[in-house]
Amino acid sequence: MRIALGADHGGVHLKDRLAAVLLAAGHDVEDVGTHDTSSCDYPDFAHAVADRVLDGRADRGVLVCGTGQGMAMTVNARPGIRAAVVADTFSAQMASLHNDARVLCLGERVVGQGLAQACLEAWLGASFEGGRHQRRIDKMTAPSDP
Ligand code: RB5
Repeated sequence: MRIALGADHGGVHLKDRLAAVLLAAGHDVEDVGTHDTSSCDYPDFAHAVADRVLDGRADRGVLVCGTGQGMAMTVNARPGIRAAVVADTFSAQMASLHNDARVLCLGERVVGQGLAQACLEAWLGASFEGGRHQRRIDKMTAPSDP
């Protein structure tokens, strides 16, 4: 899989670790930065990853900041793409199966490397089920009365 990876200063260590894991598993990884712990702005990296997933340069994206929250909020402000913040493997798997989340967001200050890697593998190992879940995703941007 082609995977775009990004982080801010709060997530760079975990991002680098996950890049190594993905490369070892045979994925094609593009690391959009950041590359050190100098203070930077997470939306810059969230947009770089979202751009790549939206235009097809990447199949999926992974973003790491302190909590994962700012990254996910930024990606979810972009039409046509969904990001999920996860800190457990069940949610990571379901984010693929039911929510078709093409971007996974993790918090380096929230999860350890082992759990982050397990979440990544659970998310990558699952595929969107479509059907009723696609109908629900369509309603995210087309509100209707229940
Ligand atoms: C940076 O201090 C921190 O705010 C950022 O990494 C992230 O947690 C934001 O959502």
